[in-house]
Amino acid sequence: MAQTPQRNRKILVTGGTGYIGSHTAVALQEQGFDVVIVDNLSNSHAGVVDRIAAITGARPGFHQFDLLDRERTVALLGAVPGLCGIIHFAAYKAVGESMKDPLLYYRNNLVSLMNILEGMRAHRIANLVFSSSCTVYGQPDELPVRETSPVKEAWSAYGSTKQISEEMIRFSVRAYGIRAIALRYFNPVGAHESARIGEFPRGIPNNLAPFITQTAIGLREELEVFGSDYQTPDGTAVRDFIHVVDLANAHVLAVARMIEGRTRSDFEVYNLGTGKGTSVLEAIRSFEKVSGRKLKYRLVGRRTGDIEQVWADASLANRELGWRAERGLDEMMESAWKWEQALAGERADERA
Ligand code: UD1
Repeated sequence: MAQTPQRNRKILVTGGTGYIGSHTAVALQEQGFDVVIVDNLSNSHAGVVDRIAAITGARPGFHQFDLLDRERTVALLGAVPGLCGIIHFAAYKAVGESMKDPLLYYRNNLVSLMNILEGMRAHRIANLVFSSSCTVYGQPDELPVRETSPVKEAWSAYGSTKQISEEMIRFSVRAYGIRAIALRYFNPVGAHESARIGEFPRGIPNNLAPFITQTAIGLREELEVFGSDYQTPDGTAVRDFIHVVDLANAHVLAVARMIEGRTRSDFEVYNLGTGKGTSVLEAIRSFEKVSGRKLKYRLVGRRTGDIEQVWADASLANRELGWRAERGLDEMMESAWKWEQALAGERADERA
């Protein structure tokens, strides 16, 4: 990733021990940023901080608390000297869970953002990168989906929190002299090439890739493929899978763009995807190819809340951020598999 190294610029990464957060912390440090992480570890592990340090040779600052704590959040934003930007990942993200307990999602995802924005306002911190999602489009009428495509009725409470968050940021930017970039991710997959960090969900995974790798390693009996009667080439749902390292790099470019005053407006929105739709069965085939294993799976009924197909038009991010997804599906699956195997090795070491 070609860009100017950043010297001693401090970035707060909320949810920095999580999946995308940890990869972004690594990418930031590799570009010379100093990173401070805040995370309540509700879906991650404290050991990730050591892993980031092992990869980059620099240990990020780490605060463990909940961003729902308004006083602590606002105080932290005032207590980091030289803080020039915030990348806000910390949020709940399980679509199914959000349908069972929507208020849990509204409280967690919206109040934490509100507290961050209040802290930014109080301490005059200008730059926010927000972790948004292609879920804001619902099932789009036209594919590939562009940033100008209408934000339609959300299909889940989780999706609704992302829509409302973007609105909250849009109005806060106008009122408080803040700059922000919302990054709408498609489906993040894969792991860092070192296999020291990766997706590490607590409990049974909701997402496809960790379910595939956990089935292959023997932690799960078989993968259920949700829906085989969609109007797609092979009947299974289609997504735009994007390598998490490519995604992480986009955050570095976005925060640098704001710090260096290169934005065209105070609130920008970018799709982050490869521009290519891949079916669930194609993802399975790719995994089988790179791992050399046959995956045990079964076609079952559709999962409630799932849309049929979505993939990105990422040309705006290509043009404006100078960002492009460089890694393909096989590389995503291969790195995810390497990571799952590394985890299995660690579990075996613990038992020994
Ligand atoms: C959803 C959100 C996305 C969000 C992500 C976070 C939508 C449209 N997308 O992604 O914005 O960032 O959750 O978790 O709401 N699948 C199986 N078997 C499994 C698991 C998944 O067949 O065991 C299928 C799903 O039905 C889906 C595809 O794989 O068709 C991808 O699912 P998943 O990885 O859960 O992501 P999304 O639901 O697409």
